[in-house]
Amino acid sequence: MDRIRIVGGRKLNGTIPISGAKNATLPLMIASLLTDETLVLDNVPRLADVALLQRILGNHGVDVMVPGKRPGDSPLDGQTLHISAKRIVDTTAPYELVSKMRASFWVFAPLVARMGEARVSLPGGCAIGTRPVDLLIMALENLGAEIEIEGGYVVARAKKGLKGGEIRFPKVTVGGTHTALMGAALANGTTVIENAAREPEIGDVADCLNKMGAKISGAGTSRIVVEGVARLNGARHSVLPDRIETGTYAMAVAMAGGDVLLEGARPELLQSALDVLTQAGATVAATNNGIRVARNGAGINPVEVTTAPFPGFATDLQAQLMALMSKAKGTSHITETIFENRFMHVQELARLGARITLNGETATIHGVDRLRGAPVMATDLRASVSLVIAALAADGETTVNRVYHLDRGFERLEDKLGRCGAAIERVTG
Ligand code: EPZ
Repeated sequence: MDRIRIVGGRKLNGTIPISGAKNATLPLMIASLLTDETLVLDNVPRLADVALLQRILGNHGVDVMVPGKRPGDSPLDGQTLHISAKRIVDTTAPYELVSKMRASFWVFAPLVARMGEARVSLPGGCAIGTRPVDLLIMALENLGAEIEIEGGYVVARAKKGLKGGEIRFPKVTVGGTHTALMGAALANGTTVIENAAREPEIGDVADCLNKMGAKISGAGTSRIVVEGVARLNGARHSVLPDRIETGTYAMAVAMAGGDVLLEGARPELLQSALDVLTQAGATVAATNNGIRVARNGAGINPVEVTTAPFPGFATDLQAQLMALMSKAKGTSHITETIFENRFMHVQELARLGARITLNGETATIHGVDRLRGAPVMATDLRASVSLVIAALAADGETTVNRVYHLDRGFERLEDKLGRCGAAIERVTG
């Protein structure tokens, strides 16, 4: 199994190109199930999760074509996928596949909307919490699907198609909102989604669906209205930049020191994280082609942060911020309100010398002067990258094991950091 080896203490200087967002790419690929025409997605990141979803969609009969390289292409450019769900040959998503990637549960909505039936395995447990799917099921029930749980599978039927309805989420859910949007796009009549997630990836999927002929308004606000249409067509859409990758590298620069342009990043996608970085003592500036983040000389200030749905501070940046605060000049508090068990990085950061105590949803981080390299491993993607951030500022060598977690969501991480001066390499085997 691959490992990442990092020798800490180098500043980061240069440019990091930001990839297309993983969490927009996955639902966009799934949206291809809604049409028998080809959906072309540009700026798709080269990630293990994208390759896995390609295989999962293949099981339903979806063809994904990736055109060959052209002269002048850089390995850091996004790829283009031509996705065709001309004929859906299977409406079952089996446990072996859904358990490998939770987001593949989301095929549920487009399959029922287009085919009138779907049989999708319940995803089961997860490293960051229990993560139920009751609200996704509720959304489709409100659109008229009849739903039963049989042998670990959610079986949904809507033989005469889905019907527009009102969906009021008791809690903000990204997956629930994607489900509601995809179901409502092909439903008969108008759907109103209340307390919808406002994450930028929802807006990106809604934009793409509108290009496919859907009639969605209000995406990006907490009230979305969808007028159902009888069919959707093909379209071409470019995936928006990854705000979590952006925030991650911004925190890496704040941790290691230096001056880096995050090329292609858009500040409005992560304003709350940029505000926290400014409080922490980094200099953050929007430029014409991205966001410039620097920290030179000054130490890291402690912060008080609570995760929240967008536009609040993202749970997907919580572990990275905790790594940064482990070297702050004082005590920080980080409260996690989205997932109840998303603190698996705490014990691994402790192996590097971080002083963190947990009390329910809140972590108290006592900043230390020095972290020291050690072998570490993590159980999920964002936790793994928090260890990379800590390692960049630790004395000596850190080995991050189980790199497949990083490969799920960070494209060429070691190249991107290495080009800016980090001493980082992948050790294969
Ligand atoms: C999405 O997960 C992201 N995944 C997650 O990114 C992200 O952490 C999360 O949104 C929150 O921003 C993708 O986009 C592929 P939710 P999702 O439904 O949709 C509860 C990463 O590292 N809930 O918004 O599964 C749930 O337990 C990941 O890239 C229910 O109670 O998250 C949580 O407490 C991991 N019932 C809250 O809602 C439900 O039916 C928000 O979850 C659904 C969710």
